Amino acid sequence: MKVLIVGSGGREHAIALAVSRSPRVDKIYCAPGNAGIEALAECVPIKAMDFDGLVDFAKKEAIDFAIIGMDDPLVGGIVDRFEKAGIKTFGPRENAAILEGSKAFSKELMKKYNIPTAGYETFDDADSAIAYLKNESKYPVVLKADGLALGKGVLICQNEQEALDGVKEIMQDKKFGDAGNRMVIEEFMTGREVSVLSFCDGKTIKIMSSAQDHKRAGDGDTGLNTGGMGTFSPSPFYTDEVDAFCKEHIYQATVDAMASEGRAFKGVIFFGLMLTPEGPKVLEYNCRFGDPEAQVVLPRLKGDIIDIMEACVDGRLSEVPVEFEDNAAVCVVLASDGYPVKYEKGFPIEGLDKFDEKEYFCFHAGTAKSDSGQIVTNGGRVLGVTALGSDLTTARKNAYEATKWVSFDNKYMRSDIGKAIEEVE
Ligand code: AMP
Ligand code: GLY
Repeated sequence: MKVLIVGSGGREHAIALAVSRSPRVDKIYCAPGNAGIEALAECVPIKAMDFDGLVDFAKKEAIDFAIIGMDDPLVGGIVDRFEKAGIKTFGPRENAAILEGSKAFSKELMKKYNIPTAGYETFDDADSAIAYLKNESKYPVVLKADGLALGKGVLICQNEQEALDGVKEIMQDKKFGDAGNRMVIEEFMTGREVSVLSFCDGKTIKIMSSAQDHKRAGDGDTGLNTGGMGTFSPSPFYTDEVDAFCKEHIYQATVDAMASEGRAFKGVIFFGLMLTPEGPKVLEYNCRFGDPEAQVVLPRLKGDIIDIMEACVDGRLSEVPVEFEDNAAVCVVLASDGYPVKYEKGFPIEGLDKFDEKEYFCFHAGTAKSDSGQIVTNGGRVLGVTALGSDLTTARKNAYEATKWVSFDNKYMRSDIGKAIEEVE
């Protein structure tokens, strides 16, 4: 089997590693990939949004199965394009990827089908949003640009002035581009966040082991929001009680709601949950694996990922088990100092050869090969150092130990990834 993976981050590296373990796969391509994925796949320099280029390539190479890692091409309808070209593809079609592509859509869906989430209103123009904020709102309040905004289109505003400034940023200055043509204003919730990824075939849903991300740049959840500075899996806060509640009110309800709307969802639904004092509620949906959630969840997946993904596309996920090792994983992101604002790139990276890909993994997020063949830093998030362990405490110790193996100039990481584990273990 020839497989094409679309994307270039740590998530796609983790997907590529899982795919490389399938005995059914002879050859992996990744577009555009990165310097780490190159060890597992032939990387081809076609951008994820170049649908014509990707379809041409897939046809020319007779790709049997495509896997789309990233949100932008999914929301843009890449799966429909691949399917039209006769290529079996893992990921939601455009009409289902809207679950992530429009916050107004996902909020309306949850309201219509009684799926627990924060109360909200949707606005198509700045004046009505401003009027609402002046008359109705309790603070803090959460402003969300409707469309994709690299995870940055969410503003938590402490008072009316901040909120009015936020409306200006999103809807008038268009800081997030067209993503800000509509906006959701939402009630502020409190609680611990949990990420739950799932495989879906349009009817059946099977959830993966839970995880928790650390979105802020600094220790103690301080500083700016990032793409994610580290993860652990499973989350000890995702208790049996939480699981039972979500199974009853959230997971199957979402898949059924999408099917009822004529938008059958095949692929990964990522449930961003908040465990509020009133019970679990949906913060957001994503239509793909999380990054860096995939880096701690996929190394723990048992069985053949291609069997599972193919069953999702074929609508027979009920026949295939989705199971995880009874262990734990922690991923610590090594970033370039200054991320997510301003940072330098191009520094040589040393120490990458110590990872055995059994217990220790080094997923590449932002790396490139220099002209001389040296692997260098090429992004804000550079590497995701991941370790397994029999429990979370051991996995955490192992992961931090492994972060010492790697060196590059301006290396920056949080020192408290998974620290919350100490509260429970
Ligand atoms: P989102 O992209 O919707 O997941 O939002 C990014 C982050 O903003 C989430 O991970 C939360 O930390 C925070 N957030 C989003 N919505 C809310 C909310 N209603 N209440 C509190 N925090 C929120
Ligand atoms: N780690 C959060 C995300 O992938 O959106």
